Amino acid sequence: MSGDPHKTFYLETFGCQMNVHDSEKVIGTLVHEGYRQVETVEQADLILYNTCSIRDKAEQKVFHRLADYKKLLAQGKKFGVLGCVAQQEGEKIFERAPHVSLVCGSASYRNLPQMLVQLEAPPSAQPVSFDEASSRSPALSPAGRGISRSTTAAPPLARITGLDDRETDKCFETEFTARTNPHRGYITIIEGCDKFCAYCVVPFTRGKERSRTSESVLAEARQMADLGYTEIQLLGQNVNSYKDPAGGLSGKKRSFAELLAAVGEVPGIRRVRFTTSHPRDFGPDIVDAIDAVPSLCDHVHLPVQSGSDRVLHAMQRLYTREQYLERIAWMKAAKREISITSDVIVGFPGETEEDFALTLSLLDEVGYDAVFSFKYSPRPNTPSLELDDAIPDQEKSRRLEVLMSRQREIQIKRYKKYIGTISEVMVEGRNEARGQWIGRTSQNKTLNFTAPDDAAPKPGSYVAVRATTSFPNSLLGELVV
Ligand code: 5AD
Ligand code: SF4
Repeated sequence: MSGDPHKTFYLETFGCQMNVHDSEKVIGTLVHEGYRQVETVEQADLILYNTCSIRDKAEQKVFHRLADYKKLLAQGKKFGVLGCVAQQEGEKIFERAPHVSLVCGSASYRNLPQMLVQLEAPPSAQPVSFDEASSRSPALSPAGRGISRSTTAAPPLARITGLDDRETDKCFETEFTARTNPHRGYITIIEGCDKFCAYCVVPFTRGKERSRTSESVLAEARQMADLGYTEIQLLGQNVNSYKDPAGGLSGKKRSFAELLAAVGEVPGIRRVRFTTSHPRDFGPDIVDAIDAVPSLCDHVHLPVQSGSDRVLHAMQRLYTREQYLERIAWMKAAKREISITSDVIVGFPGETEEDFALTLSLLDEVGYDAVFSFKYSPRPNTPSLELDDAIPDQEKSRRLEVLMSRQREIQIKRYKKYIGTISEVMVEGRNEARGQWIGRTSQNKTLNFTAPDDAAPKPGSYVAVRATTSFPNSLLGELVV
């Protein structure tokens, strides 16, 4: 332990599940280093933001937060920016928010303990860099290198960076993950992304694709089962690209589907989920594994992004509508009904009314249980930044509205058919105001329910619930006693 045991930190997380889980690992690391987590900015010595840069709006949030709390610098508080905005903007953050002392992308989290030591040391004249590569490739390093000194009044602030980028082939593995939910937990199986879809900033912010060994993933799953976890969610920007680096004498080399099945067979584990999948690498073996292993949840999130081949090509997704639908057909042929969800971008450069209509017809054809839809947002360094973002924001908003209302109609019909059926749910908690228990099905649907007072279920337990009412996004039912 290197830190002052009385040091406190506050951490706010923006963005995806990968970020949420990274934060759990960062919290575990800080606690191991002697820090204590606190609930408010005011109580903290160190204020950290784990940031998202997937769309411009997400990126702006962190700068608003930093501006809001700048005044706390005078009280000796320190500020750090972690995650995707840190990696993307790099040292430019020190110019835009001079009260920040630490800028660290996710590929550098394994160096956090040393960074914390530097952060507490008296500020040196020189900035301290924990970047693995001494000079990063300018083409892949959006941050640039120049450091401007703080423009705020003395004393000078520490300037610490961890901006390892695509050259890193190490994963952030730690035994100190501070999981927040005692029943359900994430395990990262693959970090980074090599797909370079035209709109996406992730390959630049999260580095190159690198998988953990299946043995280490399984060891973590067994450890979680021993601690009482029953649900595991395997995480990666693109879990289907998983490539087990093990093999030979060091252990069995597993495909993603084999790893999925092996995690599902860990004694004590009742549910296994995985996200996110890329259609290009999604094979029928995944559906076979879901068929063969009952603990693998019957839900697949398979982002399509667009229903038009022309747009898919411009997005560099490297599959066609037909190929995507082939994958959907594999899932529809499964023994259990697999719930399918997706992501869609509207207003990608060059998307015509006809292209958009093809996306709408794809929604009808697939019958998703949920769609996360977004207006195209041009991102730094991405190939589509070169394309003219000519669709006005108003038109993007209109398409988004149309898409959402079409999907809502689809969901109303889909959810209705569960009325009268019985599903096993994991009890997530209680909504006192409504007098209901909160439950989640294997298909990842919310199924809230009522239960007699003398049969109140325990959070984390699994119970049978009969659905009695449907909504566009959830079901309501009653405990089967
Ligand atoms: N603009 C809008 N949406 C985006 N996504 C990724 N990049 C962008 C962007 N530049 C969406 C995709 C992805 C989801 C996580 O975010 O739909 O699947
Ligand atoms: Fe946002 Fe993507 Fe980074 Fe997740 S990986 S925080 S979605 S930019």
